[in-house]
Amino acid sequence: MIEKTNNLKAVFEEKLKTAKVLADIEQLRIEFLGKKGPVQELMQDLRNVPNDKKREMGQAINTFKQFIEKSIEEKQEELQKLEWQNKIDNTPSYDESLTLNKDEGSYHPITIIQREVESIFASMGFTIENYSEIVDDYHCFEALNIPPHHPARDMQDTYYLSTGQLLKTHTSAAQNYIMKKYGAPLRAIFPGRCFRNESIDACHENTFFQMEGIMIDENISISNLIYFMKTMLSEVFGRPVEVRLRPGFFPFVEPGFELDIKCLICGGDGCPSCKDSGWLELCPCGMIHPKVLEYGGIDTEKYTGFAFGLGLTRLAMMKYGIKDIRTLNSGNLKALSQFVNA
Ligand code: DAH
Repeated sequence: MIEKTNNLKAVFEEKLKTAKVLADIEQLRIEFLGKKGPVQELMQDLRNVPNDKKREMGQAINTFKQFIEKSIEEKQEELQKLEWQNKIDNTPSYDESLTLNKDEGSYHPITIIQREVESIFASMGFTIENYSEIVDDYHCFEALNIPPHHPARDMQDTYYLSTGQLLKTHTSAAQNYIMKKYGAPLRAIFPGRCFRNESIDACHENTFFQMEGIMIDENISISNLIYFMKTMLSEVFGRPVEVRLRPGFFPFVEPGFELDIKCLICGGDGCPSCKDSGWLELCPCGMIHPKVLEYGGIDTEKYTGFAFGLGLTRLAMMKYGIKDIRTLNSGNLKALSQFVNA
């Protein structure tokens, strides 16, 4: 029996070496660990082993089984990474030197990503809302639990207009309007252009895009938030995405979080793209603060909700490998007309 196990091990190792894609591994798992596979067969043979040898043989079979399971798992991980890497390598990325095809128009990369995210959320029952770029203090701050003189206002360098209105600094500014428009239960996303008086460099722009989302219903919890974010991001990136939440402070959510995704380049091992941490910060979010729900006319005894503020500009940069944010507002058709797959 020991000999049989050793022979099987050799056959398994040989087959494992030749497995090239994830489907091969699954095949191998069924072949060796399935109901009619050799491991089950060995278990059955154990019945005929004399009692004084049963323990030893049983252990040997178990060790063999564990060896197969572990090898399959390791190979699966290895192939998964390779498949991801392949996808990344084949994703068209931004190339400054491409010549412009004059006959063909194209969508801006932000438009492409915005439409993609919109259709994913629409398929999950979210409505898509539009909101003005000029807003008032109440919507941008007060209704979001940021009263006058609150230090959180310093986080957002606001452009004020002579009318006393302002350019919206974040898409959260539409939360109150949408809560009042629909009441609860409610699922909505609202993409939009935002403005902040920032010094411009490769990572900062004074004009950028966000997409806010809110879901309000009975019994909404953090697990709903995680589920929706995970589903959406996996669709956007075309592969399973792992997410984690870290605590983050925003006056309009309690608790508030920073949502990170496991680095898509290195799969979490650490690389220059994720500054060796294995994670990329993507989207602040949280459970909507009861005060914000109250301002929106929502019954806080009955309803809870989550909100998130996805950086569309950041998402487009990550997806298309655009390293300098200034490219996006540059009007440089040579750079921007490469993204025609909308
Ligand atoms: N509005 C915030 C900003 O731009 C981002 C944000 C944080 C939006 C947490 C949210 C949230 O919906 O829950 O800085």
